[in-house]
Amino acid sequence: MAHQIKTFKTNNSEIYVGNDVFVLLNEYLFSYEKSKIFLLVDENSLNFCATQLIFKVKLLEKAEIIEIESGEENKTIDICYELWKTLADYKADRNALLINLGGGVITDLGGFVASTYKRGIDFINIPTTLLAQIDASVGGKVGVDLNGLKNMVGVFNEPNAVFVCPDFLKTLDKRQMLSGYAEALKHALIADVNYWNELKNGMLSDATFWMKMITTSIEIKNNIVLNDPKENGERKLLNFGHTIGHAVETHYLINDELPLLHGEAVAVGMICESYISQQINGLTNDELEEITSAITSFYKLPLIQTESYIELIELMKNDKKNKKTSLNFTLLNTIGSATINHEVDNNMIVSSLDFYNSVIKNN
Ligand SMILES: NC(=O)c1ccc[n+]([C@@H]2O[C@H](COP(=O)([O-])OP(=O)(O)OC[C@H]3O[C@@H](n4cnc5c(N)ncnc54)[C@H](O)[C@@H]3O)[C@@H](O)[C@H]2O)c1
Ligand SMILES: [Zn+2]
Repeated sequence: MAHQIKTFKTNNSEIYVGNDVFVLLNEYLFSYEKSKIFLLVDENSLNFCATQLIFKVKLLEKAEIIEIESGEENKTIDICYELWKTLADYKADRNALLINLGGGVITDLGGFVASTYKRGIDFINIPTTLLAQIDASVGGKVGVDLNGLKNMVGVFNEPNAVFVCPDFLKTLDKRQMLSGYAEALKHALIADVNYWNELKNGMLSDATFWMKMITTSIEIKNNIVLNDPKENGERKLLNFGHTIGHAVETHYLINDELPLLHGEAVAVGMICESYISQQINGLTNDELEEITSAITSFYKLPLIQTESYIELIELMKNDKKNKKTSLNFTLLNTIGSATINHEVDNNMIVSSLDFYNSVIKNN
């Protein structure tokens, strides 16, 4: 098992996965020997990951460390502005390299800063949360939130490389692990029934499963992105659970002291959207039951007040992926397969939220 590194080719670069990826990173960075290197971190990736990384990758001893505060509320253009200024203060030129070490907030934000500073400098992702390792750091979507609305400003731009070290997950708390697990469940539901059959039994505590989970999820996402990098069609498959999930996530970001994590909101979204799939896309009752009982066995999810339904539907309409008048959903036709471009009306969305609440009440 030792020294096992799995490589994925993306449209323009590579993703390397394995506990020994830093040997490769060391070699990879030789081509940046003369460049200014910046390491973007938050306080947790600094505390838990940066020292190990710098110890293993000698060239990083000379890197400038730039630290921002953790949290989705910092995935904003204001923080980008600070980072652009910091890069300029350090006189970073077009040959500079930004290494994003952290979760999805760091890779989304750092990727956007790198893509726009001086019309684009190179960047590398070293994701340190499960969510970032299997999803956020792959696929080239980078950007920030605007007034609490998710990912409103951004571009498509792939990192020059991604280095995924599963061992970084050892310090991640259970709630954050579960947040990432939601994206793995999504990958399984849209593309791979065998993967679902493994995941539905709960595999998170088994560290020997992490490599398999990370590589299976990356393979599913990467294959979809390879065929449709700019989301004109097939890439919408990855939006399963996210049309309602993003609205729920935004709602809690705006209104709640204790916001839901991205994956928790996606878990809510997957229950609702599985219900809609059962109503109009051929998912069977048994499959719906299997999905809801697996998800509710993993997550502690909140009831959604009926007074919030209208706001949630408005948020869905605001979502950049939706046309003004109708809402576009990706729905399951069976476990392991999904179809895109379903127009769903408000009544069906309300029923799905009612269904969700009934599931939560009965748990
Ligand atoms: N670009 C995409 O395709 C894509 C896909 C999915 C999600 N996302 C985005 O990703 C973001 C969520 O990412 P996330 O869940 O990684 O959140 P995050 O970046 O906020 O990380 C979660 C928490 O874990 C901490 N942390 C990071 N690494 C750690 C480690 N190894 N040990 C201990 N703590 C650690 C962070 O400091 C933070 O407090 C959202 O903004 C979401 O929109 C983007
Ligand atoms: Zn997501």
